Amino acid sequence: MSTNRVMRAVRLEAPGRPFTLRAVAVPEPGPGMVRLRIGACGICRTELHLRDGGLDLGCRDFTVGHEIAGIIDALGDGVDPRRLGEKAVVYYYQGCGTCHHCRMGETHLCPAPLAQPGFTSDGGYAEYIAVPATHAVPLPGDADLAEAAPLGCAGSTAVHACRMAGIVPGEWIVVNGAGGVGLAVVQVARAAGARVVSVGRGAERLALAREMGAEAVIDAAHEDVGARIRAVTGEGADVVFELVGTEATMRIATAALRRKGRLVLIGYTADSYTVHPVELIVRELKIMGSVGATLQDLHDAVTLFSRGLLRMPVARRLALEEFATGLALTEKGGISGRIVLMPQIAP
Ligand SMILES: NC(=O)c1ccc[n+]([C@@H]2O[C@H](COP(=O)([O-])OP(=O)(O)OC[C@H]3O[C@@H](n4cnc5c(N)ncnc54)[C@H](OP(=O)(O)O)[C@@H]3O)[C@@H](O)[C@H]2O)c1
Ligand SMILES: [Zn+2]
Ligand SMILES: [Zn+2]
Repeated sequence: MSTNRVMRAVRLEAPGRPFTLRAVAVPEPGPGMVRLRIGACGICRTELHLRDGGLDLGCRDFTVGHEIAGIIDALGDGVDPRRLGEKAVVYYYQGCGTCHHCRMGETHLCPAPLAQPGFTSDGGYAEYIAVPATHAVPLPGDADLAEAAPLGCAGSTAVHACRMAGIVPGEWIVVNGAGGVGLAVVQVARAAGARVVSVGRGAERLALAREMGAEAVIDAAHEDVGARIRAVTGEGADVVFELVGTEATMRIATAALRRKGRLVLIGYTADSYTVHPVELIVRELKIMGSVGATLQDLHDAVTLFSRGLLRMPVARRLALEEFATGLALTEKGGISGRIVLMPQIAP
């Protein structure tokens, strides 16, 4: 459903082509849905993979952006009227609701999702979005929407990955990559009682990682990462979270695990790497992937955010029209925190 009103939206027309800013219809919330007037949408590195075709879920001609926070400005039939005006962050999976994974609450693994805003259906580099009311997760009334938006992916991904890893208090956790997701993992692991080592590049990023709770930092540009991990942890890391995903970093991460260690792969990559089964067998290692998050993970990320335990540093606030600049800066790297697009500020 749509009205005659139009809005600005940044669209993926085909992988391998730059995104385009277009006028599209403002969505109307159907029954059980809410519409958000978007205040901010974070730029996740995944947008680069979508643009370049490294991640292609087969859909074309939709609005990108999946770290979405805004204010509820319209309600579909059956939604509690008290939600009007509420600040919320979007859960970006809409499962079929009937498969095994949906029944288990693992909506992010649904093989036939109804929608995935920003991945297969209209997302948040736009002025408005309509989502099921349950997928607009309430934020504290005083939340800064630019800081809250990255909870939608970076924050919830971090909670999910830490849950996947089964972190136990006191364990040594290494987070490889100090970008949006990595800095969130540092904080969630710390909140879970872990001792955290952040591996990043550059003094500014590593200072930020320390501020976010890393007990030790390693500069991947100047230090021997494997040797430093062993020096800091003793036997090795209980868990390595891999956000970078080059052949070299995955190999180093595996070698840096202590016995019974877990390697959690999060960063999308074109690389692959080889590990000898005996290496896994004799040290009882586990290698696992972690994708997205459950709705509960996002609620938990918001709770941590509300309690000041999960912060989302914002490096730059750009107008929607400046999306190409934001993507180029993200691609170039060297950013301390997230870049967010804000449709309500002028370029
Ligand atoms: N599985 C999932 O559910 C999921 C969810 C969200 C994102 N992702 C993926 O996870 C990855 C990270 O996303 P993001 O949004 O956090 O990206 P980001 O904000 O761009 O951060 C990436 C970080 O990795 C650092 N880095 C790059 N190469 C490195 C190296 N060799 N050693 C150490 N650090 C290095 C970058 O440093 P510089 O700035 O110096 O380059 C940057 O700080 C991406 O591949 C993204 O698509 C996966
Ligand atoms: Zn399903
Ligand atoms: Zn993301």
